[in-house]
This record gives sequence, structure tokens and C-alpha cells, in this order.
Amino acid sequence: MSFPDGFVWGAATAAYQVEGAARTDGRGPSIWDTFSGTPGKVHAGHTGEFAADHYRRFREDVAMMADLGLTGYRFSIAWPRIQPGGTGPANQAGLDFYARLIDALLEHGIEPWPTLYHWDLPQSLEDSGGWPARDTAYRFADYAALVAGALGDRVSRWTTLNEPWCSAFLGYASGEHAPGRADGEAAVRAAHHLLLGHGLAAAQLPGAGLTLNLYPVHGEPDAARRVDGLQNRLFLDPVLRGGYPADVLADLAAVTDFRHVRDGDLAVIGTPIGFLGVNYYTAHTVSSGTPDAAIAASGVPSSGAAAFPGQPVRFGSRGLPVTDMGWEIDPGGLAEVLTRLHKEYPAVPLYVTENGAAFADEVAASGVHDDDRIAYLAGHLSACQQAIEAGVDLRGYFAWSLMDNFEWSFGYSKRFGLVYVDYASQRRIPKDSARWYAAVIRSRGVMAG
Ligand code: FCB
Repeated sequence: MSFPDGFVWGAATAAYQVEGAARTDGRGPSIWDTFSGTPGKVHAGHTGEFAADHYRRFREDVAMMADLGLTGYRFSIAWPRIQPGGTGPANQAGLDFYARLIDALLEHGIEPWPTLYHWDLPQSLEDSGGWPARDTAYRFADYAALVAGALGDRVSRWTTLNEPWCSAFLGYASGEHAPGRADGEAAVRAAHHLLLGHGLAAAQLPGAGLTLNLYPVHGEPDAARRVDGLQNRLFLDPVLRGGYPADVLADLAAVTDFRHVRDGDLAVIGTPIGFLGVNYYTAHTVSSGTPDAAIAASGVPSSGAAAFPGQPVRFGSRGLPVTDMGWEIDPGGLAEVLTRLHKEYPAVPLYVTENGAAFADEVAASGVHDDDRIAYLAGHLSACQQAIEAGVDLRGYFAWSLMDNFEWSFGYSKRFGLVYVDYASQRRIPKDSARWYAAVIRSRGVMAG
């Protein structure tokens, strides 16, 4: 079994999760600084202020990527480093940091895969309405133009947004993520304006892609249709098929009147993309029922019914083994998502832009022995091979994450890295999974046990 020539072997991070240096070189505050600084929002009051100190240690980190043999590094650009107040001219020091990072990657033969927006909206833009406000889409386009102008000579693999579903529905409906609002109508508007911002930015960045978090949805047919609609098709259909799905519009009728969708928006959103990034962690199992009861009964509010405004759905499980996030391990679901895209949507090159698992790693004198993570990655890489053999145009895989980092509302309590980070000393300790992944890359996809 082998992967196609030129298959990208990568790992991913995101600015707020790894950089730290939250007040350095003119960076402005983002919604995640505000949210994590608000008591009760993030596990143990953790914030991204120091994180994995990637801002200062990026050279060491790039050398580590080269040791692993990575051919691509997916990272995100912090909008509040480029426009500290969300508008106006670029902060040169912010651009310079990414120029240095990109140059270091290129020197090591690692292709830079920057994402423009991985959830760190400048706080001032939230103060003037955030993503539920249409203007934010235009501000995002301005920011994209600044970054493209400064770094476009060295980057050809732009991604506009990471997981707009999370920005919209965890940020504005369930409130589990920044900015922590609980307003379903605002969340649906946010989703549209994120997509509009994506389209406006994509038009300025030739070949740019978009990353979505996609899930197979199992369970009772009507509940599964609704959750698939809001989770997957609300984003896939306007980007790849030119319009919102009729059943999803009907499902949301009680939540919004859709007056925020203007003539011409769907043409912008449908701007052709160079690739689609797929983030995959687990599958959903749903049934019909009242959301509140569901949350109480399942004990798993995260990504649960509160993030699906107005939908009579509850989330359950299939009893599969879970990761430290409580997410069921279902590698077959990745093959399912990829083949579905291949069969049901117009052809577009696909990349798995995130896949990985948190486990409760422990450092022993002999290292970090994360066999559970190796098994997770091996299962999901096999699913990629299966998809490729079934004809899917899959061109790369990025493990989440290069190193342990700030896992949003879970703070530093969840470790997803191939590399362990000892936050007290900022020492990096490659886990067994890092060595295993390096061997897979060296052999171009042959997986030892
Ligand atoms: C995804 C996010 C990423 C990381 C993983 C575990 O939803 O894009 O930043 O937190 O989940």
C-alpha cells in the first residue's frame, strides 16, 4: 500500500494554541484572550499567554519538524498580530514574524500551509458585532489582502478559515468557545458571514482552500439529516454547489429569517477553491429528542445539542473506545467522509488538514510511550489509503498536532501532540508517536506495527 507521489506529510498547529507571546511586538487582544481571561470559561483558568512559546522557539521547532521529515507545516496567522485593532495598516512586526517562520520552513524544505483564521478574532471586531455582523467579512478580506501582499511571494498553500462551524456554533450558539455567546440566530448569521469572508479572501489568494470539520452522522434518520445539515452541508453546499441546502433552510426557519443573505453572496461564497481541507476526529450518533434533556443525560455538552440551534436532537454514542476528549475512535468514519465528498460533490483536491487524538501521556525516564496514539494514527492513515484506493483525490495528511498545546476550553489538560511539551521548562520531548510518524514518512506510508 502506498500513497501517491507528492503526498504531503504534515503536522498542524494554530497560533493561539502554540505561540504564546500574547503581548509581544504589538499583538492586539483577540476574543480568545478575553474569553480565557474570563473566570469559568477555560479549564483551571488557563490562557494562551505563554502556550508552547512557539513565537520565540520557532527555529528549534522547525528543526524538530525537519528531523521528523515533515514535508508540510500547517500553522495559522494571528490576525491580531497583523491588525492589532482589526482594521487599518499592517503591523510590520507581526508580518515579520511569519516571514521568518516561512523562511525557516522553506530553508528546511518544508512547505508552509498558513491558515488565515483559526478562531482568534481581534477583540475590537467582536466589540463592533463580531461574525454575526456583515462588516466582519469585509474586514477579513482586508486582512487577507495585507497578508497576501506581504507573504504571497513565498506561499502558495493558503487556507482561509479553519472550521467555520466551530467559530459560528461553538462561539455564538453553545458559547463553549470565544466569544461565548448563546444566541442561535447570531450563530447562523456568523456562519454566513464567515463563508462570505472566505469567498472574498479566496478571490484574492489564487489556489486557496478552506478547512471544514466534517463528521459522518449516524442514528435516527430525521435527527441525522438535521445534524448532517448544520454540521456538514451548511458549509459544503454553498462552497461547492453554489447554494444552501433547502432542508437546512427549512430546519432553521424558526431560528432566522435569512435576511442577512444578500443577492450575490452565494456567488462570492462559491468562488472556486484550490482544495478542501478535512479535519476529522470522530463521528456523531444522534437521535430525536429535546436538546436540554440530551445534554443532561449525556453529560457531554461539548459539541452537543446546544450547538445546533432549534433542532430537536440529542447526542449519544455507539459504545466505541474513546480518546481523552471522550471522542469515539472511528477510523472508518474518515474513509466515509472522504468517499462521500468524492461521490457527492464536484471534484476538488482533498487534504486531511487535522487528525489526531488526546491521550493522558506520561513522561517516563525512557520517554513518552503513546501506543494508543500510534494506533489511532495508524488506523486513520489506513482509512486514507482505503479512500485513495477507492479513487478519492487525497493529496496530504496533517497530524494534529505537532506538539501539545492549549486545547481551547480544556486549556493544557489535553495533550494532542506528537511531541510532548513540558510547559514549565518548555522542553520538547518527541513521543513514540513522533518517531513512528517519522518512520512512516521515510517509507512513504508503510506502517510498522
Ligand atoms: C479542532 C481544532 C484544533 C484542535 C483540534 C483538537 O477542532 O481545529 O484547533 O483544537 O480540534
